[in-house]
Parts: sequence; structure tokens; C-alpha cells
Amino acid sequence: MSVAADPMHADALLTELEPVTASLLERHLAQTKEWFPHQLVPYSRGRDFEPDYEWSPDDAGLSDEVRSSLFVNLLTEDNLPYYFRTIEAMFGRESAWGEWSRRWTAEEGRHSIVIRDYLTVTRSLDPVALERARMAQVSCGQVPEPPTPHEGLVYVALQELATRIAHHNTGKVVDDPVGYEIMKRVASDENRHHLFYRDLCSAALEVDPSGMVIAIEKQVREFEMPGTGIVDFDAHARAIAKAGIYDFKIHHDQILQPVVLRHWGVEGLTGLDDEAEAARDALLTRIRRIGKAGERLARRRAEEEAASADERVPAAV
Ligand SMILES: [Fe+2]
Ligand SMILES: [Fe+2]
Repeated sequence: MSVAADPMHADALLTELEPVTASLLERHLAQTKEWFPHQLVPYSRGRDFEPDYEWSPDDAGLSDEVRSSLFVNLLTEDNLPYYFRTIEAMFGRESAWGEWSRRWTAEEGRHSIVIRDYLTVTRSLDPVALERARMAQVSCGQVPEPPTPHEGLVYVALQELATRIAHHNTGKVVDDPVGYEIMKRVASDENRHHLFYRDLCSAALEVDPSGMVIAIEKQVREFEMPGTGIVDFDAHARAIAKAGIYDFKIHHDQILQPVVLRHWGVEGLTGLDDEAEAARDALLTRIRRIGKAGERLARRRAEEEAASADERVPAAV
């Protein structure tokens, strides 16, 4: 007879985890150093925008792929009001949960400030297109809304790490030490957010292993990089993958493998109910498939790059 999955009720899970949340919040605050956007932004490179100013890609020598990544990363940060709404609704306003949500929001707010100031003074993106895209994005208010705290915790754990990787890799390709420092600083915030949620998930796995494994399987199956709802998101996502900033291989090698398999140790969990056992099997199969697809796509991209490098050789000689 199959055992029906009975994931712990949301309130019970949150109550049970509250002391862990309090101590992880304390750890987070102890490890966080204050920083200021104005100390990082190179304002001396800026000048007024004349009324008839029209942006041109030549204003900053960035490739389309790098611009796509900066655009998506910034707009995702701009969507903070809706991420906050989701998190507050899920965790509640009280206790360490509420305290964490507000502190997290205050930290996240700094990300769009510093990235936008940098992009504006360096003229890296069209300021008119960017502002229109921000208005469109924030007016539609679309963010993933996981249905339970189990799934919510898994989603934010994976998402914060994905965001960290995307910011850091974008910093590496902007080809500007100042831009790199800015993206690295933002990425290190995202990493601390990830560690908070990652360890909260570990605690949740002890409290309700079956409920959490089912939640992990569903969130890995449905995971999308933040940014759906952004104008032309699919084209930007392809460009970001092409530039090696975020792709299937990175998703597998730097998120699913180290977090889901190694840190949460999903393969070795015992005492799962039937539904969770089935979810684990499906999850492990999916992770293997994502790994293979990542290898295949990375190989194909390398071959394409080699082919286009060959084409460029005669012109360069
Ligand atoms: Fe952020
Ligand atoms: Fe974050």
C-alpha cells in the first residue's frame, strides 16, 4: 500500500524552524560587513545627459551578451517589491522570520542602487530603454510564487545561489575592474543569502524529510532563472548562456551538484515515505539529465566558437 505524503503543515514547519532562523540570522549579521554604493561607483566618469542625447552601443564597449546580462540582473533586482511580498506572505511578519525578511529586503535594495548608478555613469545601457523596461517589469509584478514554505525555502536557496553566480560571472566579463568590484560585492551578499537558506533547508530536511524531498524535486523541475516577465527575456537568457554567464552546465555543476546532492545529501536520506522515494528517483534522474545536457551544450558552444574563430583568422592575418 502506498503511503500518502503528508508534508508537515506550513505553520508547524515555520514554528519548528524559528529557532534555527534566529540563529542563522545572528550568524548572517555577524558575517555581514557594512558597505556603501557611493564608495564603489566611479562618478567622475559621468557627465550630464543632454536633452537630445541618444544612446549608442559605442558609448561603452560592451558586447550584446554582457549588456543582456547587466539588463536582466538589474531588472531582477528592481523587482524586489514582489520578492518581498512573496517572502513576507510565506514566512510571516513575526519573530525571526519577519526580522529576516526585512533585513534581507534592506540588503537587496542596495543592489539595484549600485548597479544602476554604475550603468548610468558608464553609459553601458540605453537609459531610456532601461527605464521603460523597469516600468514594464515592475508594473506587471510577476515573480515565482512557491505554494508552500517547503518549496519556498528550496526556491530561494537555489535562486540566491543562481543570482550570485550570474552577478559574479557578469562582473568578470564587463572588462572593467570597477564594474567587477561592484558585481563581486553584490554577489557576496547573494552568497550569504544563499547560505542562510541552504542551511535552513538542511534543518527542514531533518524536521520533515519527505515533505522537503518532494519540494526539492518540484522546484528543481520547475526552476527558472529570475527574470521571466522581463521584455525579451528568452533572447536575453540565450545571450547570457552564450557568454557562459549562466547556462545548464553551471546550473548542474555549481548548484544542483554541490547543494542538492552534496550539501543536502538527498541520495543518502533515509525514512522517506513512498511519494518522497518516487520524487527522489525522479529528482536524481533529472539532475543526471541536466548534467548531460549541460555537457552537450557546452561542447557545441565551444565547437561553434572554434569555427567562428577559424573564420576570423584570415581577416586577422
Ligand atoms: Fe540582489
Ligand atoms: Fe539575495
